[in-house]
Amino acid sequence: MIVAIDGPAGAGKSSVARRLAHRLGFQFLDTGAMYRAITYAALRRKLGPQDHDTIAEMAQRVSLIMHDDRVLLDGFDVTALIRTSEVATQVFLAADNRRVRERLVQLQREFANSNDTVTEGRDQGTIAFPNAECKIFLTASAEERAGRRHAELKQRGEAISYEDVLAQLNERDRRDSEREYGALRRAADAIDVCTDGLTQDQVITKLEGIVQKRQRELTLV
Ligand code: DC
Repeated sequence: MIVAIDGPAGAGKSSVARRLAHRLGFQFLDTGAMYRAITYAALRRKLGPQDHDTIAEMAQRVSLIMHDDRVLLDGFDVTALIRTSEVATQVFLAADNRRVRERLVQLQREFANSNDTVTEGRDQGTIAFPNAECKIFLTASAEERAGRRHAELKQRGEAISYEDVLAQLNERDRRDSEREYGALRRAADAIDVCTDGLTQDQVITKLEGIVQKRQRELTLV
């Protein structure tokens, strides 16, 4: 079974999806981390927007392994290194590159090929897994999302104001929804869940209920 969770940046997708996967006994895939890892690799090589083809070729060559919450890039653990706001603001280098997207979608399908999976991102229910058995569109207001992300960055010791986080988030929302290929879109058969005012536990319980209902429907057919 594939549970595809899509939604804008900062809606709490990755922590919620990770815990949901754990509860269900499914494996978990954070596809944003894959785009971040390619961006990190590009920045390390001092590549920029003008290096579109070089970044696409690099994405074909690098080894990217998602394993047990860790992200391994050419064998190096980059899990923490891809979480900076520098990577977040430059992530379009990977996300706007059609060939990078095709490569990552291919890796995502291979990952989910043989095990029940909870996957989260922007295009999981639309492009990567259009036949996913359960699709969820997770949202929250921009202010709530910026507040959460700001607290997260502060905890990690990054000095950035709430206003700057909100501005970055709005810019990322714009890019995510205007992207030519793989844009953030709600799949027609996705179930909407708004997390405003809900605790993480409440969101997970809600999602678990949705998945279990779907599992019952599937066994009835
Ligand atoms: O979920 P996140 O903030 O870690 O994602 C980082 C960026 O990667 C996000 O701004 C858009 C991009 N992304 C994407 O284009 N497609 C996905 N399936 C996941 C993320």
